[in-house]
Amino acid sequence: MIQQAAEHLSDDPTVLVCAGSGLSVESGVPTFRGEDGMFRDDDIARLTRVTTFETDRRDMMKWYQDRREQLRELEPNAGHLALIELARDTGDYVFATQNVDHLLEAASSELGYRPPIHHLHGSLLEVRCHHCGFSFEDLRLDLGELPTCEQCGGPLRPGVVWFGEALPTIPLRRSSEAAERCDVCIVVGTSGLVQPAASLPVTAKSSGATLIEINPNSSALSDACDILIRDKAGTALPALLEEVKHRR
Ligand code: OAD
Repeated sequence: MIQQAAEHLSDDPTVLVCAGSGLSVESGVPTFRGEDGMFRDDDIARLTRVTTFETDRRDMMKWYQDRREQLRELEPNAGHLALIELARDTGDYVFATQNVDHLLEAASSELGYRPPIHHLHGSLLEVRCHHCGFSFEDLRLDLGELPTCEQCGGPLRPGVVWFGEALPTIPLRRSSEAAERCDVCIVVGTSGLVQPAASLPVTAKSSGATLIEINPNSSALSDACDILIRDKAGTALPALLEEVKHRR
């Protein structure tokens, strides 16, 4: 399967990478669903809903602040690095990630090449006013202390998308455009259960792209995929990179 996937990636194609939490597992970030997923705990699932911000802001901000602090310790894994190396040295890559970490950007800094990376579900690095939308990047600001906006006095929150909220327009539009024009779509580490992110590979497929799934388990998108690589991102992606290099 690695060979088959490499064949599609060797000739400088246009590629859309649709990434989910499984890509960051090997950096120490848990997934949402499945055996070790964060949503096993109903209380955690509650903390990702916009309605909880109104009723239980303190608990919610404390949980997000802990995640923001963990982010500072994280390092990109072999999967992030292989993807950015592929993007740097071959083809024309666009990334649409559901992840709110910055590990693809960290891999980009390490390798000295930054492809377009669209955050469909926002970013933990960002802080945003819940009322006026004023936003900035700051990991040190302690959201657990319930800070307020210097522009309008409204409550500050992490710049992530919660259940009950719309996705940011520009990342979604750019990702959809990339889905319509890509030759290959790599679907890595996502269960394919959350819309509209899960519709991007489907759009790519109906526009004629070859779909490659990298996931140790089957997902809601597996049936639509042409090539299934049943392995971890941190193992499969470096192997794929080596095979592509070997063929060029
Ligand atoms: P899920 O938790 O739904 O799915 C994680 C996927 O990663 C599963 O299919 C696993 O099999 C796979 N996986 C686990 N370890 C892996 C590894 N080492 N390499 C590759 N794949 C691996 O996570 P997402 O699909 O990312 O949204 O979840 C989508 C959205 O649901 C999240 O962005 C979040 C959540 O609600 C918001 O917060 C808005």
